[in-house]
Amino acid sequence: MPAFTATAPGKVILFGEHAVVYGQPAIAVPVEQVRARVVIEPQPRLKPGTLRLLAKDIQLDARLDELAPDQPLVFAIRLLLSELKIERSPACTVRVSSTIPVAAGLGSGAAVSVALLRAFSAFLGQPLPDERVSRLAYEVEKIHHGTPSGIDNTVVTYAEPVYFVKGQSIQRFSVPQPFTIVIGDTGISSSTSLAVGDVRQAYQADPELYQAYFSAIGKLAEEARRCIAEGTIETLGALMHENHVLLQKIGVSCEELDRLVSTANQAGAWGAKLSGSGRGGNMIAVVESGLAEKVAHSLRQVGAVRTIITQVR
Ligand code: MEV
Repeated sequence: MPAFTATAPGKVILFGEHAVVYGQPAIAVPVEQVRARVVIEPQPRLKPGTLRLLAKDIQLDARLDELAPDQPLVFAIRLLLSELKIERSPACTVRVSSTIPVAAGLGSGAAVSVALLRAFSAFLGQPLPDERVSRLAYEVEKIHHGTPSGIDNTVVTYAEPVYFVKGQSIQRFSVPQPFTIVIGDTGISSSTSLAVGDVRQAYQADPELYQAYFSAIGKLAEEARRCIAEGTIETLGALMHENHVLLQKIGVSCEELDRLVSTANQAGAWGAKLSGSGRGGNMIAVVESGLAEKVAHSLRQVGAVRTIITQVR
């Protein structure tokens, strides 16, 4: 019997993180240079229902029934079996690997879920369409961080730029003039659920102020969508800068992110901001393509542990 393989890309949020949890629009794009990959190998000689999970990156080698039900891989597999009304899966080995840094705002959790749901549903003979993959991956996201907006599972499933509003169906948009983004990793791992939880507490303490921050961020996302559609990419830089300042105000930036953002600006980027839940993880800079290497080099010189240059198209 053949093996079943699926992959899914990483992602970055260009505009609107955190505010998107409160109903504001956000823009996210896939990052194809990093990917999660899941391979399902049938084990016809083992008893049906025997599932072995292997994920070297997180030192996992165990049978499904030895793991806690809220372990995200276990949760995803059980959710899929119940969705497909299958009581007992044929025996198999599930190999998970990923080049997406974990807890870095690049959508690693969502990408693993999407690759797993695709590979496993194909293995079970019922490959799922994108809409169902994304919906199930959203349920798994809730384990990662309580009240997700749904943007990560959406952009990772469809692997194309999305303009996303929580609870609404996916809005794709075209990018008539492709542009370059440099991603810089602080190397600090940061928990999305903690950052999202802290923002919620701050919002509850001062709803009026936080609502004002969120709607200002939402307006930037709307304006950014217009700039991208019109091809006025340099203008995105100023919008990114404004978005970063608002994210500082809501309390999710940190010294290392601020340092990388100002370094990118000094190296000639049109603009830069933190990306994802903040407090560590990654930042992004929008740059003229000829300057991308220079900006990436400057980021590494001031402490970025890795940089990725990617095209938004
Ligand atoms: C995480 O990638 C983005 C946040 O806005 C959380 C979410 O949208 O679920 C911080």
